[in-house]
Amino acid sequence: MSDADHKKLEERTSKAEKEAKAIEEELEKLSNGDLTFVNDPRLEKLLSDNEKLKHRLEILENAIKAESSAAGGKVVKSESRKRPTLISDVSSVEGNVCIVDELKNVFTLAIMSAYPDLEDPPVVITLSSNNPKFGDYQCNSAMPISQLLKAKNVKTNPREVANNILNKAPTSPLIERIEVAGAGFLNIYLNKAFVEHVLTCVLRFGIKPPPVKRERVIVDFSSPNIAKEMHVGHLRSTIIGESISRVLEFLNHDVLRINHLGDWGTQFGMLIAHLQDKYPDFKTHSPPISDLQAFYKESKKRFDEDEVFKKRAYACVVELQSGQPDYIAAWKLICEVSRREFQKIYDRLDIKIIDRGESFYQSRMDIVVKELKDKGLLEEDEGRFIMWGDAEKHNGIPLTVVKSDGGYTYDTSDMATIKQRVEEEKGDRFIYVTDAGQATHFVIIEACARRAGILKEGQKVEHVGFGVVLGEDKKKFKTRSGDTIKLIDLLEEGLKRSLDKLVEKGRDKVLTPEELKQAQEAVAYGCIKYADLSHNRVNDYIFSFDKMLDDKGNTAVYLLYALTRIRSIARTAQISIDQLLEEVQKTGFKFSHDAEWKLGKVLLRFPEVILKVSNDLYLHSLCEYLYEISSTFTEFYDKCYCVEKDKEGKIVKIIYERLILCEVTARIMEKCLDILGIKTVSKM
Ligand code: ARG
Repeated sequence: MSDADHKKLEERTSKAEKEAKAIEEELEKLSNGDLTFVNDPRLEKLLSDNEKLKHRLEILENAIKAESSAAGGKVVKSESRKRPTLISDVSSVEGNVCIVDELKNVFTLAIMSAYPDLEDPPVVITLSSNNPKFGDYQCNSAMPISQLLKAKNVKTNPREVANNILNKAPTSPLIERIEVAGAGFLNIYLNKAFVEHVLTCVLRFGIKPPPVKRERVIVDFSSPNIAKEMHVGHLRSTIIGESISRVLEFLNHDVLRINHLGDWGTQFGMLIAHLQDKYPDFKTHSPPISDLQAFYKESKKRFDEDEVFKKRAYACVVELQSGQPDYIAAWKLICEVSRREFQKIYDRLDIKIIDRGESFYQSRMDIVVKELKDKGLLEEDEGRFIMWGDAEKHNGIPLTVVKSDGGYTYDTSDMATIKQRVEEEKGDRFIYVTDAGQATHFVIIEACARRAGILKEGQKVEHVGFGVVLGEDKKKFKTRSGDTIKLIDLLEEGLKRSLDKLVEKGRDKVLTPEELKQAQEAVAYGCIKYADLSHNRVNDYIFSFDKMLDDKGNTAVYLLYALTRIRSIARTAQISIDQLLEEVQKTGFKFSHDAEWKLGKVLLRFPEVILKVSNDLYLHSLCEYLYEISSTFTEFYDKCYCVEKDKEGKIVKIIYERLILCEVTARIMEKCLDILGIKTVSKM
């Protein structure tokens, strides 16, 4: 049922309810007053009307109930849809509460009761700047609401509105107090006891994800093309896609990670023709084509120079696509060689993904083409068949569904793909991670899939685009000789550079060979991933080992060092988690220093940051958050000692509450790094 239908149904229900009530009142009046009502002809009619209305009411209520449970129990009635329920009791909270959302709920209720006639008033909650004068969070709704009221000719000002909201604000265990300030800001001060409770929960139960409605999400990422090189663009897609999958999995979504390999293109014609010539017994003896790219180059050269070969290559495509066993065998062999190469990269970077290339959709392409034809959605255009999403919006670009030679295209395969993901995979959300250049392609695919009725309301298509990787000269990332850089070489260089860095710091003298190797890999792969993820993905970014291996600033190296330092504090104190828990049990956990409180509030934001990233799929905000945690931690650690030692270095005092903060900080940082796909080490 659409929102509009739902609204209509509700209106009818409420009308029926009113009518039934009026009749009941009428009956009441009649029965209380005139005793001759028994013979009153009006009564007969009223009684029968009442019965009918009751019946109608029941039907309507059942319809609403059914619809509400279909929507996951979210929609009940418009009033209750808008009326959020609040956390009433601290002990019901388990450390995974999203503070901003809860504050939003509190102020939604306050505004609804202060201004019941305003439809959809804006509820704006922001984090306050660092000045404690402005509270911890702010509600900045008074200004826009006062504008709305003015438009309705109500005389008021933002300060008055803010005061009205304040007066109606329900109590909440999160909030210590609210103040009206300046021109009409509502400054919110968090309740310390609440924050103490939440952080203790993290210590007790570990990090729990904030609750969300579970969705089936298909993440299409990495997706290199067989025989062609896997370039830095695919590296970006791999790193970003892996992280997106991890954040969604952390929230308990049902994630399907798909490697949409380009394994069905026309390049196979020439590859197979070349294979037949060079290694005619390829079926019995595996040919040494480990360097597929060189093999690809050779066949491409022949293709461009030799007309006879070219014709044969085309014929090979036809044979392959019609499923000729020999050609399929040759194709499989080539794919296998390619896959082995890709897998080396995935193993190193710890990427989990299922291979499901374009070839998987071959038969499904026939089906989708037929469906589009039958629905009359294809137009003939100079021998080819095209489909329009929205000509105006898409700069006059349609999909080419069938080429003039009857062949299919990238567009056809993506139409078959989306249909498979909707109908067979039962997806709710479809994410594609590719370079920004493909944005229009996916916009048109989505529009056409909606037009064709393949995509239903509520199903979301998201193209996660990203910019180009540049070299330090700000030009396209290439080797000195101008060749494209092989990914495996890039990773190797990362390993070498990270080892150099560790040796430079003398770490090889302190760490065991095993620890050194772990640190080397964590730093090398971590820095490459972090450099990619910490930039806003839509921008181009400059690949620089020097920058990413810097141990100052927002880099993986800095964060990994910060984390090992935090971890070493508890080691020095020789306190186990169980002992910490015991202490909390005995004395509770209280903030006693401003720097502790500041750190506590940053840690509290973890659920909010995760939810935001899972919605907008911009991972750099998670990186910024990590950096903020570690710099706030440094500030805390500078001001607050956790373990006090005497001159001989003997521990004389341990401040358990601060060790708790250290532990919670480390856990949250580890979780963030894990989501970013970065391995942590205990020593480096
Ligand atoms: N193989 C494509 C490329 O290298 C990316 C595929 C993305 N996924 C998709 N369903 N079109 O650009």
